[in-house]
Amino acid sequence: MSLRLAERKKELKQERLARVREALGSRCIVLIGLMGAGKTAVGRRLANRLGLAFVDTDSEIELAAGQTVSEIFAEHGEPYFRQGEAKVVARLLQGDPKVLATGGGAYMDAGTRATIKANGVSIWLKAELPVLLHRVRRRDNRPLLTAGDPETVIRNLMQERYPVYAEADITVESRDVPHEVIVYDVLEALARWLGGETTPDATGGR
Ligand code: S3P
Repeated sequence: MSLRLAERKKELKQERLARVREALGSRCIVLIGLMGAGKTAVGRRLANRLGLAFVDTDSEIELAAGQTVSEIFAEHGEPYFRQGEAKVVARLLQGDPKVLATGGGAYMDAGTRATIKANGVSIWLKAELPVLLHRVRRRDNRPLLTAGDPETVIRNLMQERYPVYAEADITVESRDVPHEVIVYDVLEALARWLGGETTPDATGGR
């Protein structure tokens, strides 16, 4: 490829990113999905591409509480964690536009869903069981998974949560490919959705 062509392609990419950023306005990009779907890894890269701040709600909760998520679950129980989670998500959505990676349970709260709808664009990183299992088995920082056999827990959560996650504005298939590929898919889907060109499902026709 000639240098000029390469430069032109790069310019076009930058223009596209700038258009997405502009169309987003003051809204946040909110990543939802199950544990292991890649919300943090994809979100960090996505924010970087768009020149936005990145915030992970679990990290914010840990910072505010001075305890890890596992410690909060163990000491105060899940309902206490959920209350804090809803407050933290609401607070973060009020601030400057940013990319927000939410904990897997956050979107299950109806109030949180409404706040996300009002202040953000929601993107569900949808993954199949083997992808999720492979990823969550690498770490032991998820209290819900210590309650039983991780495969059964994840399977049940998929059944319970996927119909609700499906309310998200956009759905992108999270697969076992480099995170950059998913970031690209998310950007494409966002550009289409913000441009009002297609239905809110990036997976169609793939
Ligand atoms: C949870 C997911 C976790 C964390 C907590 C509960 C859930 O976040 O918020 O362990 O209910 O699915 P990740 O989805 O970032 O792992």
